[in-house]
Amino acid sequence: MQTVVLAAGEGTRMRPLTASRPKPMLPVGDRPLVAHTVDAAVDAGASRLVIVVGYEADAVREFFGDSYRDVPVTFAVQAEQRGTADAVRVAATELDDGPFVVLNGDALYDLPSLRRLYESGPAVGSYRVDDPASYGVLVTEDEETEGARGEVRVTGVIEKPAEPPSNLVNTGAYHFPGEAQAWLDVGESERGELELTDVLERTCGAFDVAGVPFDRWLDVGRPWELIEATEWKLGELSPRVEGDVADDAVLEGPVVVEAGARVRSGVVVEGPALIRDGASVGPNAYVRGATVVGEEAKVGHAVEVKNAVLMEEATVGHLSYVGDSVLGRDVNFGAGTTVANLRHDGADVTLTVKGERVSTGRRKLGVIVGDGAKTGINVSLNTGVVLSEGARVGPGEVVTRDR
Ligand code: G1P
Repeated sequence: MQTVVLAAGEGTRMRPLTASRPKPMLPVGDRPLVAHTVDAAVDAGASRLVIVVGYEADAVREFFGDSYRDVPVTFAVQAEQRGTADAVRVAATELDDGPFVVLNGDALYDLPSLRRLYESGPAVGSYRVDDPASYGVLVTEDEETEGARGEVRVTGVIEKPAEPPSNLVNTGAYHFPGEAQAWLDVGESERGELELTDVLERTCGAFDVAGVPFDRWLDVGRPWELIEATEWKLGELSPRVEGDVADDAVLEGPVVVEAGARVRSGVVVEGPALIRDGASVGPNAYVRGATVVGEEAKVGHAVEVKNAVLMEEATVGHLSYVGDSVLGRDVNFGAGTTVANLRHDGADVTLTVKGERVSTGRRKLGVIVGDGAKTGINVSLNTGVVLSEGARVGPGEVVTRDR
């Protein structure tokens, strides 16, 4: 099945993590986010991939090249991010006139469900959420008529509705009939975009469109969702030790130590954890939860890292605690930098996304730190703090606001 993967977006809600890389190229475990989408597509039956690129397009192109796992890849360039229908319109020049699958390149899809989407006729992936208002919400026939495997017939879709007609949302995975290629020229929506959901709406008018329920789905749009994506993908790790691990280091659960990584004396790692090529952990460090220590990253003496992503070359050198956080490339935490990841009132941690304070739905969340940011010694960082790329925090500071 020919498959279009949407990977042109900048990911403004992901800032500062997307300051120097497009959202699809953010690392999730051992590969970029979009590679997980593409891997699932290949395993589910993609025979040809058209990847739509735009923001920082070269990074995506270089990663995939002209074939990926023996599946031919072409790229379509969406110069201006005008919406998902426009992205597929750009890709359509690379498609034959048969049916096609479209996938959001910034979402994780579980494989069995994605396979069902590929194998069915016209369909859209659906997922039940508590708060559907920020998604496309599916209008379905009475749930009493549910067919096999919980599929429902979808009769329409409403983008970001104030009063959602159901809590079944559009996962951004679509199986379109070839005819839909003629319908890609849609008008602007209320939010000023050319929406693929308008194409879906039209498809629902002309075809029976199945809502294929996904068992697991994650839209990776906001910084803490990168932690959630990492939790998901590290949960699939098979343990493997290729690097240099000291005899007295303790590795428990699924831990991968890549070739070129070093785990020194006195270290305890409770998986799932991924310690990448060139990384160094310890001596006497404690790594737990779903943690990635990126390429050339360093976790030094008496440092505890829990459920966190340290991107390449990030350094937490001495006497620090980092929990439920993301540290961008080349971040440096001074000795004694401590991250708070739990509020005293036990409420969900909030974070500012595009100027708006929002609940993350997480009781535990530490900090999001852009590339190259540095803290001095003995810095305290409060829950939900965001440090921009290149930010500086002086010695002894207590940081409760974004910087
Ligand atoms: C897009 C779709 C929306 C869908 C969402 C899933 O929204 O338009 O229907 O529910 O992806 O992530 P966007 O991310 O462009 O706001």
